[in-house]
Amino acid sequence: MEATPTNLVLFLLPSILFISRAPHVTPATPCPPCGNTTVPFPLSTTPTCGDPAYKIRCTTNTLLFDTLNNSYPIESINPKSQRLVIRPAPLVPNTCITTDKIHQGIQLNNTLPFNITSSNTIVYLNCTQALLLSPLNCSSSSLCHTYINATASASVCNNGLLCCTFRTGGSSNSYQIRVRDVGCSAYSSFVNLNPDLPVNRWPQPGLEIQWLLPRETVCASQKDCDSATSACGLDPSSGSGIKRCFCINDLVWDPIDGVCTKKATSHDPNGSGRNRITVAAHIV
Ligand SMILES: *[C@@H]1O[C@H](CO)[C@@H](O)[C@H](O)[C@H]1NC(C)=O
Ligand SMILES: *[C@@H]1O[C@H](CO)[C@@H](O)[C@H](O)[C@H]1NC(C)=O
Ligand SMILES: *[C@@H]1O[C@H](CO)[C@@H](O)[C@H](O)[C@H]1NC(C)=O
Ligand SMILES: *[C@@H]1O[C@H](CO)[C@@H](O)[C@H](O)[C@H]1NC(C)=O
Ligand SMILES: *[C@@H]1O[C@H](CO)[C@@H](O)[C@H](O)[C@H]1NC(C)=O
Ligand SMILES: *[C@@H]1O[C@H](CO)[C@@H](O)[C@H](O)[C@H]1NC(C)=O
Ligand SMILES: *[C@@H]1O[C@H](CO)[C@@H](O)[C@H](O)[C@H]1NC(C)=O
Ligand SMILES: *[C@@H]1O[C@H](CO)[C@@H](O)[C@H](O)[C@H]1NC(C)=O
Repeated sequence: MEATPTNLVLFLLPSILFISRAPHVTPATPCPPCGNTTVPFPLSTTPTCGDPAYKIRCTTNTLLFDTLNNSYPIESINPKSQRLVIRPAPLVPNTCITTDKIHQGIQLNNTLPFNITSSNTIVYLNCTQALLLSPLNCSSSSLCHTYINATASASVCNNGLLCCTFRTGGSSNSYQIRVRDVGCSAYSSFVNLNPDLPVNRWPQPGLEIQWLLPRETVCASQKDCDSATSACGLDPSSGSGIKRCFCINDLVWDPIDGVCTKKATSHDPNGSGRNRITVAAHIV
């Protein structure tokens, strides 16, 4: 289910019912939409909605994804596959340097439950010769040349500068797309790119990020839980005394919608969980 206005009603109904029944707002409450964009569970725009471990920001009706030193607009969200797409930084006009080079490109906080998926094709622009020693494709036929040749704003990257192409999914790029003096000074990214298509049929630039399925809501006491469906209890898997609202009465935790339900929902077994992110060797 894409985060569209149509789905808004589906998300709002349960929260309205819940709020009218219990004035105490638990963290599992879905977040209100940001402008016209639905904010699906577990993404969280305030400390009292979604799962606070999955914090994103809503600023002037735009959703933003914060990285360690920067933030990027969120272009789309797919809660069924736990994926969102951010818009990469543009080039500083008339240079072959992306605006986020001062932050060393996209750097995710690796203690948070977000990872870069293996669906992104990265074109690295204005690279140093050191990249020729990397496993990236920096040949004269590399896709980055096709991109530069067909992209007016990137023509400045053409003047004999080295460029390289790679697909994400390596362990060294599950949290970062690095941009720096000793590597490359610019990049762009395309989700699920078919390299056989002409550049004018490529998707808009985007970087796909996946989140881990959330655990049960953290609680301090029973009043943080919906007593009809869950009980606040010690989480045996966290040795540090963390309590969670565990489902009761044979209900099971549905991490997609963040509720206790009658039976396990498996909307997309292949699109979920940490196993989905492929680990391959890659040195950037
Ligand atoms: C929200 O949707 C309405 C109606 O489709 C549109 O007029 C408005 O510009 C949209 N607002 C934003 C922030 O996208
Ligand atoms: C390429 O990157 C280097 C190092 O950041 C920079 O000095 C140079 O101006 C860049 N080239 C262009 C055309 O922007
Ligand atoms: C990111 O921010 C931290 C703290 O503000 C700073 O120490 C670090 O140098 C910054 N890193 C980059 C790559 O900008
Ligand atoms: C990364 O996220 C953790 C958990 O929210 C936070 O405690 C930590 O300060 C963050 N690290 C940086 C460098 O921002
Ligand atoms: C991200 O990937 C690394 C290895 O590729 C894995 O160890 C880690 O658990 C993953 N984290 C998330 C949030 O998926
Ligand atoms: C680099 O990419 C081009 C275009 O996709 C391909 O034809 C070429 O075989 C690749 N080279 C290497 C070394 O992978
Ligand atoms: C890009 O353009 C240059 C100059 O026109 C040409 O020599 C080169 O073959 C083109 N490369 C690709 C991959 O299209
Ligand atoms: C999940 O992936 C496996 C192996 O690729 C495939 O056989 C199976 O049909 C997939 N299941 C669903 C529900 O897509």
